[in-house]
Amino acid sequence: MNSLIDSSSPRTAQAHDTVSETATIRKAQLRTTRIRSAHRFAGLTLAFFIGLHLMNHLCALVSIEQHIKIMDVLRLIYRNPLGEALLLLAIMVQVPSGILLVRRKGWRGLPLAERAQVASGGYLAFFLVAHVFAVMMGRYFFHVDTNFYFASAVLFSPVWLFYVVYYGLSVVSVFVHVASIHYQKMLSRTSSHRAQTQALAIVGTGIAVMVLILLAFSGVVYEIRLPAAYKWW
Ligand code: HEM
Repeated sequence: MNSLIDSSSPRTAQAHDTVSETATIRKAQLRTTRIRSAHRFAGLTLAFFIGLHLMNHLCALVSIEQHIKIMDVLRLIYRNPLGEALLLLAIMVQVPSGILLVRRKGWRGLPLAERAQVASGGYLAFFLVAHVFAVMMGRYFFHVDTNFYFASAVLFSPVWLFYVVYYGLSVVSVFVHVASIHYQKMLSRTSSHRAQTQALAIVGTGIAVMVLILLAFSGVVYEIRLPAAYKWW
């Protein structure tokens, strides 16, 4: 009898360990699924804003007045208390959830498309925090209208080259992030060649949008006379 109990008890303990291990893995998977859903939902909210935001910046190709006119209309959406709260909440969800997902996914051994997704997402997380902080400082500390001139001024400052890279990477990162997600989704639906071509077309569009926005904001398309309030150097 004793020997029976002795031989079954390690096995029972082992079975117990396996059950609790499975439960821990399930819990971790459930948590990852929840984080991924939150990241996707916040991402879609942000994508809506970023789409409008970049379209707005492309309007600067026409004229400064056109850019400001469109921004005034868009502000009705993202500057009303509900829109602004939703936008800031989306950023507060997007950045930490992205960091958590990357920590779980790791970097080593990832295919190129996933590395591109992680790298562009990492830059966007940094940029979103720095950029929104700068806009809030402009609005509430320096008390300037954060319009076309606010963004353009830095491209005339002594550190203009830094801002060319900083702004340029932000626009390209948005498109690289979308392209890498699109590529991974399309792999199960079409040939890898077609998925790659589509992803490269998205990145190409991003580079074109980046160049056009930088040309308009840096005074290449027309002369920009900065009001004194925006010259901080
Ligand atoms: C060349 C590129 C960009 C320029 C010149 C630029 C410029 C600006 C300006 C002037 C504002 C103030 C808007 C206002 O007062 O109504 C602003 C706000 C903002 N931008 Fe950008 N932006 C650029 C790219 C991006 C990108 C790529 C993102 C997202 C990844 C982004 C996210 C935001 C957000 C979240 C706000 C805050 C909106 C608010 O609450 O008022 N921007 N940007």
